[in-house]
Parts: sequence; C-alpha cells; structure tokens
Amino acid sequence: MLKRLLSGVLFCVVTVTVLVGCSKNPIEEANKGAEKPIVFRLAENQPEDYPSTLGAKEFARLVSERTNGRIKIEVYADGKLGNENSVVEQIQFGAIDFARVSVSSLTEANKSMVALMLPYLYKDRNHMFKVLDGYIGDTILADLNKSGYTGLAWYDAGTRNFYNTKKEIKSPEDMKGLIIRTQKTDLMMDLTSALGATPVAMAYGDVYSALKTGVIDGAENNWPSFEASKHYEIAKFFTVDEHMRVPELVLASKMVMDKLSAADQETVKSAAKEASLLEREEWLKREEASKKKIEASGVKITYLQTNAAFKEKVKGLYDKYGKDYKVIIDEILNTK
Ligand code: GCU
Repeated sequence: MLKRLLSGVLFCVVTVTVLVGCSKNPIEEANKGAEKPIVFRLAENQPEDYPSTLGAKEFARLVSERTNGRIKIEVYADGKLGNENSVVEQIQFGAIDFARVSVSSLTEANKSMVALMLPYLYKDRNHMFKVLDGYIGDTILADLNKSGYTGLAWYDAGTRNFYNTKKEIKSPEDMKGLIIRTQKTDLMMDLTSALGATPVAMAYGDVYSALKTGVIDGAENNWPSFEASKHYEIAKFFTVDEHMRVPELVLASKMVMDKLSAADQETVKSAAKEASLLEREEWLKREEASKKKIEASGVKITYLQTNAAFKEKVKGLYDKYGKDYKVIIDEILNTK
C-alpha cells in the first residue's frame, strides 16, 4: 500500500516537473537574447554625499547610459569594501573592479606617485590641474598600467592641514610632542616628523575613534574630510598650513579593463574623465560648506600669516623623495 502511494507521489512530482519545465516562463522568454549586464563594483571610502562619491555616481550613470545598460557600476561608499590600502591591493588582482583613491595609497605600488604630492609643490589649484590634465598627468596615469591599474581621471582634494585635540599650532614648534595620524606612506610620516610631531600611520576609518580615545592627538586632512569624518567634533584646533595637495584619482583594475572590448574601454575612460569635472565643481561647493560648518562649531581655526617656517622644515623631503623624479618635478614647477 505504502509502496503504491509513494510511486503515485513520485509520478506526480515527475509529471509536474516535466510540465513546468516545458511550459514557457514569460520572464525567461522576454530575457532571451538580451545580454546580461556586466556588473562592476567601485570602492569609495567617503560618504554618499561627498564630492568624490557624487563623481563616482556620475561616472556610473554615464557608463550605463552609453552602453545601453550593458555595463553597470555599483558605487560602494563609506568604505564598505574595506580601507583604502586594502582596496588598492584588491584592485591589482581584479577582486575589486574600480575605486576612487588618494594618490598616497598608490605610492607603494607605483613610486612615481610621490612626485605628485610633495609638500608645497603646486602654487594653487589651477596649477595642479594644469599638471594633472596635461602631459605629466597623462603619463603618470599610463604608467600605472605596469602595476596592474588603469588610471582613469583626476579628482580635486584641496589642501591638507593639521588639526588636533590639544593646542593651537602657530608654528612647527607647537607640533612637538603631538602624536599625529598620517596616511600609510613614508613621505607623510617623514613630513610629520620633520615638523616635530610623532607620526602614526593608520587607516582613515579608524581615526575618529583614535582621536576620541586619545590614542592620537591629531591628524591632517582637507576641509571636507575634516568635516565629513566628524573629526572636527573632537579636534578643536585646525591650522591652515596647507602643507600638501594630494590629488585623488579613479582607478580600474587592469585585469578587468583588459576583458572589455576596445570600444567599451574607451567609453569607460571618457566617462570617467567627464565625471571628474562634476567632482571638481562639487569639491568647491563642499569646501565652502565644510568651512562654514567647522567655523560655526567653535573649532579654533588658525590662519598663518606665512607658512614659510613649515616650508623650510620640509624642504629636505625633495631630496629624499624627489631625487629619482627630478625631471617630472622640475616640469611641474615650470608648468605655467
Ligand atoms: C582624504 C581622502 C581619502 C583618504 C584620506 C586619508 O580624506 O579623500 O581617500 O583615505 O584622505 O587621510 O587617508
């Protein structure tokens, strides 16, 4: 009896499976012939409304529009795909497809990057973009190929300044004894030591709690990062020493790019360049908004009459870090 029942059930299951298998699924039918989109991930360690994230979203929009939805780029903001240094490593072997990163995070993979972030290198923003949008910027983007990256476009990231929880900094002498977080790159650490403070390299995402718990006394960054990261809520002294402009860039994994057709590669490259213009506009707006917010929050902002003392202390770094890139550095300094 049981046997009969079981074989009856089995018969029904098989029959239903066959019938469903043969019948036409309207969704499957509609999708037949349509290519599945290629979905890429872009890593961004800033929040959703930050200029570089807006730039990345515009990049994604343009790529999708120009490939009729065949290529989709999903933007993962807020460091969801990991800290910048680990993202840079993962891009190299294709585990992450795209990212927007600070030039500092590439100095290990590509030493020539250091030539773009020496202290007090650029006269101003226009000078920096003349360099980056011209022959030097193009050459350095292309050079990234040999380390496994495709460099796509340059973003603005303003100037970097020191801030801390302890005291006002008016001259390098005031930095003595302060423990300052830096990006994980020798140049940044040496710069901080040259100014008299003690550097501690740490991921950007860990700085807030390190400031809060007193593991560090301060850090350095541009206005929008100081504001967006909420470091300004803890560090109440900010000195506008403008020691560096560290440009940022959009990167692709070379392994990933090599799998695309030449036409798609071109689409990706031109979309990234176009979207960088939006980031640069958004940057200026955010810089102003951040300044206002920081001022209103009661942070003591110190504008230096001259940053000559800071410049003097760090000029030795040109010999140490710039000697292999003298031609590039001279060209940068001579760019009008
Ligand atoms: C800036 C930059 C980040 C970087 C950070 C840092 O905020 O936008 O990409 O990680 O500096 O100091 O590490």
